[in-house]
Amino acid sequence: MKIIMLGAPGAGKGTQAKKIADNYGIPHISTGDIFRANIKNGTELGRKAKEYMDQGLLVPDELVVDLVVDRVQKDDCAKGYVLDGFPRTIPQAEALDAALTTLGTAVDYAIDVDVPDENIVRRMSGRRACVSCGATYHIEHIPPVQEGICDRCGSTLILRDDDKPETVTRRLEVYHAQTQPLIDYYSGKGILRAVDGTKDMEAVFHEITSILGA
Ligand code: AP5
Repeated sequence: MKIIMLGAPGAGKGTQAKKIADNYGIPHISTGDIFRANIKNGTELGRKAKEYMDQGLLVPDELVVDLVVDRVQKDDCAKGYVLDGFPRTIPQAEALDAALTTLGTAVDYAIDVDVPDENIVRRMSGRRACVSCGATYHIEHIPPVQEGICDRCGSTLILRDDDKPETVTRRLEVYHAQTQPLIDYYSGKGILRAVDGTKDMEAVFHEITSILGA
């Protein structure tokens, strides 16, 4: 099963993608996590990506397309995968479709996690991310057992640089201009499914499993 998660920044794509990956035994591929790991490791890709991410802008298509197209051809993707944060522009979606067509396959579902902008800034300011393993929490909705410490690996939890309110506003503008058109793109292909991302996490996941099946 090949799944794409769509939705505004902070809509809960990553939260649901992790649950889908665990439930269906497929890899969770997050381009944001890949960039953050590269930034942490001081790579050239990380250095280039950070310039854009810190401003709330998208990383250029040429830095992300080949990376994802290579990743989905790894052995662990044979049963499928859930893409979180990719594609994010029409050219990225077209490049993915072209690569998958060459491989004789296609995306099965594009799931749009729908959350109005007014809920987003509140969610992002409450998000905390682990500096080591990438686990995410929310200070109100999923707090860690010990404040500021990751339950999974014991490392420090931080507010992402791009989760500051002024950057979130810019990311929302970029989302509406460049990523929202993907909703029509996948709707036109008959594979778009929308879920109400304002519900609690388990209710959202229940809607998703009703779409994907057992
Ligand atoms: P990325 O990491 O993909 O960020 P994003 O799309 O902006 O999404 P987020 O990770 O911020 O949010 P999410 O929807 O996953 O929400 P989450 O589940 O964490 O990308 C970061 C940057 O990298 C981009 O801005 C761009 O610069 C670059 N980039 C990445 N991919 C790219 C690409 N393909 N092309 C170009 N550039 C690219 O949830 C948010 C919070 O809400 C959490 O605290 C969570 O606990 C809480 N929450 C989740 N669900 C619920 C719920 N149902 N109820 C209450 N709280 C909830």
